Amino acid sequence: MLSGGKGTRLRPLTFTCAKQLIPVANKPILGYVLDQIKETGITNVGVITAPETQQNVKDYVQNGSEWGFNVAYIPQKPLGLAHAVKTAQPFLTEDSFVMCLGDNVTGQGIKGFVEKFQNQNLDALIILKEVDDPTRFGIAQLDNEGTIVRLVEKPKTPMGNLAIIGTYLFSSKVHQAIEHIKPSWRGELEITDAVQEMANRGFKVKAEILNSWWLDTGKKDDILSANAKILDEYVKRNVEGEVENSAIEGRVNIAQGAKVVNSTVRGPSVIGRNAVVKDSFIGPYTSVGDNSHVIQSHLEYSVLLENVVVENVERLEDSLVGKNAKVSRNKKASTIKLHIGDFSEVNV
Ligand code: TTP
Repeated sequence: MLSGGKGTRLRPLTFTCAKQLIPVANKPILGYVLDQIKETGITNVGVITAPETQQNVKDYVQNGSEWGFNVAYIPQKPLGLAHAVKTAQPFLTEDSFVMCLGDNVTGQGIKGFVEKFQNQNLDALIILKEVDDPTRFGIAQLDNEGTIVRLVEKPKTPMGNLAIIGTYLFSSKVHQAIEHIKPSWRGELEITDAVQEMANRGFKVKAEILNSWWLDTGKKDDILSANAKILDEYVKRNVEGEVENSAIEGRVNIAQGAKVVNSTVRGPSVIGRNAVVKDSFIGPYTSVGDNSHVIQSHLEYSVLLENVVVENVERLEDSLVGKNAKVSRNKKASTIKLHIGDFSEVNV
């Protein structure tokens, strides 16, 4: 389970939070991936962590008992996905394994892929998904039997539109392949090179096409899309908090201790524990984190992490707001006043 990396594209949030722990529908992305691993019946889970965010990941996963796992933590400098496998070799020994990226979610689960890998006695099973812009992804070319012929990382002239998603299944032969690859131009040991090396060596390398959605939450807009998708799929109407003089429309989850007063909340949306929504409109596809306050504001298609304050903001949309941040309207002057962290982005 890869929960390391640098997360540079999600700064400033990733200065204080592992990107795999950014919540969608008020639950860390990593949690959805761990749920899918649990469904396979796998119980031995090695969690790759990066030095900066290691504690963060440990605090969430702990000893894995919430999922019934035996967890081993494997610290890694972020030097590529194949480097992560190499680092994990003492944990993996000669066993076959599934490698999941902790920031990738799919609508389908991975149980079926594990069964196919075992039944066909494969050395690698790579999961693919059609994409609109193949130049942004690792792209695979297959023969008629679904065997991988060629893999190219972010091709300038794409030879297809099947992108490699964040779930890989390997036999121990992957370690032989990794011994023979060199770091790429970006200084990383690439998993695409390892799989290509496996194909070159005549190992049984197959692919399967995912027939549900797939989201790689590398950037802000991906988090918002994942939030919308997960709210759409998972949220049921459940009102545990207090509601006063308000309209709660559709699939809205209002957690215990939350308070909604003089407001409209339109689903699918979630309001976290002890959050307060007052004189406001919370539009569809919005997650308000625990202890956050939304006062006299209009909010749509957004994610607020914990302890956020949004006050007197006429319309906030397509926004991702980190923990303890405050967004408010300057009522008196027409100037914009900012106090924001490094690598923040403000669109006024
Ligand atoms: P990426 O999103 O490719 O890389 P990154 O996390 O460094 O992010 P950015 O490009 O914004 O700097 O990584 C995919 C997943 O794999 C992610 O969950 C982090 C994890 N990962 C590791 O655990 N170890 C590594 O060496 C790398 C490169 C990634």
